[in-house]
Amino acid sequence: MSPSTLTALAEEKTLRASFVRDEDERPKVAYNNFSNEIPVISLAGIDDGGEKRGEICKKIVEACEEWGIFQIIDHGVDAKLVSEMTNLAKEFFALPPEEKLRFDMSGGKKGGFIVSSHLQGEAVQDWREIVTYFSYPLRTRDYSRWPDKPEAWRAVTEVYSEKLMALACKLLGVLSEAMGLETEALTKACVDMDQKVVVNFYPKCPQPDLTLGLKRHTDPGTITLLLQDTVGGLQATRDNGKTWITVQPIEGAFVVNLGDHGHYLSNGRFRNADHQAVVNSNYSRLSIATFQNPAPEATVYPLKIREGEKPVLDEPITFAEMYKRKMSKDLELAKLKKLAN
Ligand code: SIN
Ligand code: FE2
Repeated sequence: MSPSTLTALAEEKTLRASFVRDEDERPKVAYNNFSNEIPVISLAGIDDGGEKRGEICKKIVEACEEWGIFQIIDHGVDAKLVSEMTNLAKEFFALPPEEKLRFDMSGGKKGGFIVSSHLQGEAVQDWREIVTYFSYPLRTRDYSRWPDKPEAWRAVTEVYSEKLMALACKLLGVLSEAMGLETEALTKACVDMDQKVVVNFYPKCPQPDLTLGLKRHTDPGTITLLLQDTVGGLQATRDNGKTWITVQPIEGAFVVNLGDHGHYLSNGRFRNADHQAVVNSNYSRLSIATFQNPAPEATVYPLKIREGEKPVLDEPITFAEMYKRKMSKDLELAKLKKLAN
């Protein structure tokens, strides 16, 4: 039977078979073997204009071209708000299973609590619980699917969502300008930009070397802002996907990820970073991903094709279609893998 929470499993001595990954997918680098290679960019002075802004924008653009993943500090989001968000989320996951399961989203509910791998009915399970909800556009907010415990959650989340939407638009503005387009170009291409928050809780794991908290993927949307605690576990790749590195956690920083939509709109100039999360047997870990996605009906196609370049897509498609194709390709690959074993 699939577990509805990981609380009891985290106490067991051995990992249940449903979480055991094939050898080629298992972690290659430890959760705390940190690398400083991913650029860390201070945004202090970005709004002042002039030379300082130019310097910061150049660093952001270079990071997007080389990595598609970087960290930002001095980002202007209040440190107290950031730590409140983390603490409230930790309190939620520490609630007894029956409290979390009041928001059970298995059976197709939009938003709530779930052991993540039940989302797509995957064969091998991720070692992670999530709580997720839609925060923008405002009409998509279904408060009946937002946790009501701890009590302050809703109020804090609302402010957090607003600040992160503004921060994401600022970063998209920098990238639009780098593409030689008006500052709002990327935001406008999202039509009515969606924001979805996924709070990830990775409990201590009895055999972390055999499993993943979240398997390798690129984010489908435009840009993601990830807040993580200081435990460590987020990994990105270098050398064209061949080598894994563990991102050094920085308290209060956001990890910025470019997604597939951002990648396609830039005609492949900005990378969509492959990443995954590994777990460990010493500490539980928390991360909060804020996904800035285009509206389902938004068009996915390069906004600018530079001289001599070919478009990375054959034809314009909607984001809903892009997402459907991505998911069915993932499923196909998983099936092929199963057949090969
Ligand atoms: C994610 O990719 O959405 C989360 C990764 C992490 O928890 O570090
Ligand atoms: Fe991700």
